[in-house]
Amino acid sequence: MKEIAPGFLDVVRARRSIREFLPDPVPEEAIAQLLEAASLAPSSCNRQPWRFVLVRDRAVLERMGAAVKKRFDELRAAIPAGELTEEMEMFRVFFSFFETAPLVVVACYREMPDLLARIVARAAGPAVSTTEKIHPELQSLSLAVMSLVLAATNLGLATSVTTGPLIAKDELKEIVGLSRHWEIATVAPVGFARGAPGERPKRKDLGQIVSFL
Ligand SMILES: Cc1cc2nc3c(=O)[nH]c(=O)nc-3n(C[C@H](O)[C@H](O)[C@H](O)COP(=O)(O)O)c2cc1C
Repeated sequence: MKEIAPGFLDVVRARRSIREFLPDPVPEEAIAQLLEAASLAPSSCNRQPWRFVLVRDRAVLERMGAAVKKRFDELRAAIPAGELTEEMEMFRVFFSFFETAPLVVVACYREMPDLLARIVARAAGPAVSTTEKIHPELQSLSLAVMSLVLAATNLGLATSVTTGPLIAKDELKEIVGLSRHWEIATVAPVGFARGAPGERPKRKDLGQIVSFL
């Protein structure tokens, strides 16, 4: 078997979710490489059902942050006093820190017609069902985001992948100008880390997550 390229696992090991960024902008050449990495990801039927909105405009980021915080406050207000409020509060910063990064990648996907379902429906009629929806578009986008994140790590950039901000999904879609065909899967801040990350959250033992047949 071909040896894994030297350094690749070091990049995988170095990647961490970083939540505090310096204000320094992400260089243009780095952005170009991140986007190349994302666009080279595999996708179902090579349909590349993704779109990346790169937000650097501070005013736009502040609007996005404000929308998430407003929605958070609405959800928090819906919780009866005393019940789980502390647990809820713990999430606050995790949902809105993205707005402090110099660059935020809003990673979007678009659901597309299932090719196999179409063929079967045409040939056998709608009574014959095909496979259940397995979200190939979302899977494709997730791989592209991982490529982008690893490329960023390799370039010395810090990232996070966050879905918390999607509590305000509709508002965010409007702010970044997405049509109704597109869904946001991830809001990914990118920048230079302010300080080193804490200890890596423990991973499950391989024995818990792997089986060989
Ligand atoms: C799909 C997904 C959604 C996530 N959403 C958030 C989020 O909303 N806020 C946050 O601070 N971290 C978020 N994370 C980061 C995880 O908390 C983090 O990956 C995990 O704790 C492991 O830490 P590590 O990435 O530093 O190894 C998310 C990660 C994934 C994969």
